Amino acid sequence: MKAEYSEKEKNPLESIEEWEEDLLIRYPEPKDTQAKSKEDYRNYHDSERVDTVKEFYRLNHKYQTYDFVVDKEKEFLKFEKKEMPFWDAITYLNTLVDDSDPDTSLDQLQHLLQTSEAIRADGHPDWFVLTGFIHDMGKVLCLFGEPQWAVVGDTFPVGCQHANSIVYPEFFNDNPDSRDERFNSKYGIYEPNCGMDNVKMSWGHDEYLYQMMKDYLPEPALYMIRYHSFYPQHRENSYDHLLNEHDKEMFKWVDKFNPYDLYSKVPVPPDAKALRPYYEDLVAKYLPSTLKF
Ligand SMILES: [Fe+2]
Ligand SMILES: [Fe+2]
Repeated sequence: MKAEYSEKEKNPLESIEEWEEDLLIRYPEPKDTQAKSKEDYRNYHDSERVDTVKEFYRLNHKYQTYDFVVDKEKEFLKFEKKEMPFWDAITYLNTLVDDSDPDTSLDQLQHLLQTSEAIRADGHPDWFVLTGFIHDMGKVLCLFGEPQWAVVGDTFPVGCQHANSIVYPEFFNDNPDSRDERFNSKYGIYEPNCGMDNVKMSWGHDEYLYQMMKDYLPEPALYMIRYHSFYPQHRENSYDHLLNEHDKEMFKWVDKFNPYDLYSKVPVPPDAKALRPYYEDLVAKYLPSTLKF
């Protein structure tokens, strides 16, 4: 049975960038220098006009249940929706334009290029640069009519207790899983340190792109893609009890990636046209020419 949501419930944000802009308010500095104050963030949210973001989290926390994830995986991981050459997919993604704030907002391609160019400037391996360049391609989910809260937003494990460090934890009161005995204990359906590969995450652009790319990129790249929105772990360390030793090693890469995603905005945008040949070669080195969505 396909759930129906009203337009307001599907798209509480002016645009999906609002979530990332809000992340910068919550995490204004990189992890190693963060002197964060949750109170400041709460005060900001409770006093200023950011109702759209709050509403976004309310819907995300209410509807992202274990069963919801199972359904979305069934629907999207067959990759039968669309077949596109890589560059068409980039163009397609770019039709997701934020028109709420034309002065400061960048199109999706610019965010990807700024992330990847910052990685390249630091001399990292080419697969890391490619990871930066593609990491948000899963947002094409929006163009298939998916609700914003099922595409972006911090991700978290489903099937066990929701960590208190997740932004607006009180909204999980509306999530039926928090009253379900199978799911509402610390470990829920999981074993201690069972490894993240055995843990189902809330559904969004991370898992979707990971599943699309898993045969083509080195493991650290796959961790970066799969967990880049998993702030409750990579910033808050709230799920150490589910990670195994290998995950802990690999999450160092997720940590390495995060500043490029959050803090790579530059005043002069990269020249997409001039950079295209470099990225064409890079994409051709690792990925098939046509991708299935
Ligand atoms: Fe992302
Ligand atoms: Fe991003």
